Amino acid sequence: MIGLILAGFLIVLFIIICWRHSWGVCTSKTDLTGKTVIITGCNTGIGYYVALDLAFRNARIIMACRNAEKANAAKEKIIAETGNKQIVFQQVNLSSLQSVRQFAERIIKEESRLDILINNAGIMHSNSLLTEDGLTTIYATNHFAPFLLTNLLLDLLQSSAPSRVINVSSHGHKIGSIRFENMKCPMLDDGNRTYANTKLANVLFTRELARRTEGKGVSTFSVHPGFCDTELFRFMPSLVQALMTRYPLMKTAKEGAQTILHCALSEGIESTSGEYYSDCKVSSTSAKGRDMAVAKKLWEVSETLNSQVLKDSGKQNKLKFLVDTNAAISMIQYNNDPSAKPTLFKLLAANGFTIDTYGGKRLTMNIGMRQDFTWTFTIADMKIPILGADFLAHYELAAHMNPRTLSDKTMNIHVLGTPTFHSTTEISVTMCHGCKYLDLLNQLVDIMQPFKAADSGGHQTQYHIRTSRAPAYSRS
Ligand SMILES: NC(=O)c1ccc[n+]([C@@H]2O[C@H](COP(=O)([O-])OP(=O)(O)OC[C@H]3O[C@@H](n4cnc5c(N)ncnc54)[C@H](OP(=O)(O)O)[C@@H]3O)[C@@H](O)[C@H]2O)c1
Repeated sequence: MIGLILAGFLIVLFIIICWRHSWGVCTSKTDLTGKTVIITGCNTGIGYYVALDLAFRNARIIMACRNAEKANAAKEKIIAETGNKQIVFQQVNLSSLQSVRQFAERIIKEESRLDILINNAGIMHSNSLLTEDGLTTIYATNHFAPFLLTNLLLDLLQSSAPSRVINVSSHGHKIGSIRFENMKCPMLDDGNRTYANTKLANVLFTRELARRTEGKGVSTFSVHPGFCDTELFRFMPSLVQALMTRYPLMKTAKEGAQTILHCALSEGIESTSGEYYSDCKVSSTSAKGRDMAVAKKLWEVSETLNSQVLKDSGKQNKLKFLVDTNAAISMIQYNNDPSAKPTLFKLLAANGFTIDTYGGKRLTMNIGMRQDFTWTFTIADMKIPILGADFLAHYELAAHMNPRTLSDKTMNIHVLGTPTFHSTTEISVTMCHGCKYLDLLNQLVDIMQPFKAADSGGHQTQYHIRTSRAPAYSRS
């Protein structure tokens, strides 16, 4: 019996050793002196070890990361270990297309060449949160950002040819599918499959990119790094994470970096541009991962959605709003316009201060939900525009503190906000401080709305009536 258990143990050990041996190691001796590499999400995990290896090869490395503290710590570690001082941190949040555009603009302005672009950053956590662009966060980060970034940097890559683009995908793509109809909304969320869908998008994007850059000196590869012990699984319960790290067939992040390095550095693999690599060799994808008709359509849809998103975001008038459920009305600033005259309406803050108002302004905004919102804002002497209780109640939106989101329950859409340090004190509407009808008026919230606009109706005709005095309802 003991002999049998021992034999079984030895067989399992043998299989594990053979399996680990098959993982492959990048054996390239390529030196990158004078070459520039961009790696997204390289402050930790697989990306960090890719950056470390390329730093040893004397590359100029641009660490494209979102968290300055983490990125600078990783940068200092790489410099200390390799002695390579050409490591630069450039901030980018890949879940914001505007941030991707700004990052690309900086690169184009400041860098004279780009030899290797490694689209490594990714998230696995699937939720129905929408980005500021109205895209599902996981799709924005894993597909739209690398798609946009690569396209924006393509001229620079071509002018530095021969150059390479590596898109870090996953074997998980094999259970994924592309659902065009739902790409811009949370219904896209197939639960755990959403990650697989985005990784399939990486495979197809790489194939179509290879087709479009053929003969232009840019080679591109999608890569499965392997099942690696990294922070990718940080959203999972700690017990599950602890069990996973004891799985004997899990790679370290350094082992996971090998196939990416192989595709970035190995000579003579240009003829396999567009292919999918795993364990340092070409590997097979799912049938969906070879569908060039879908790859072409994905490219076109991604292009359209990117420009649609940019068009939509123009509607926000570049305003950032503070969501404040303690403010009875929504406001925008009057911006010290010297020609503006205060109206009879004052706002009252809980600390006793009165706030001057200057009329109303009707705005149409895209705040990342599926629909545009039109609202008449009171122009007030405020430091920051406010989305108040009137707007939230009208559109049935709820504000949550953790995570900081605005949500539309009926549509099940959640939009992430950014934490800020503004403090406001409860704001209500009043005629004037000390007015004898104040208590009564404070109960009649509706007639206390200073500036209202009726819905415009289905037609385009607008009627204007010139008036010279204050509105009748403001005269008591
Ligand atoms: N680990 C695996 O088993 C495995 C398997 C197959 C494929 N992959 C792929 O390998 C790639 C690297 O993942 P990993 O395992 O190394 O995971 P990781 O340790 O979690 O690293 C992911 C990196 O992406 C960054 N990132 C995430 N969202 C970002 C955003 N919005 N803007 C900028 N950077 C962002 C993270 O930055 P923060 O530190 O600031 O969050 C981090 O640096 C991913 O594409 C993943 O899908 C991993």
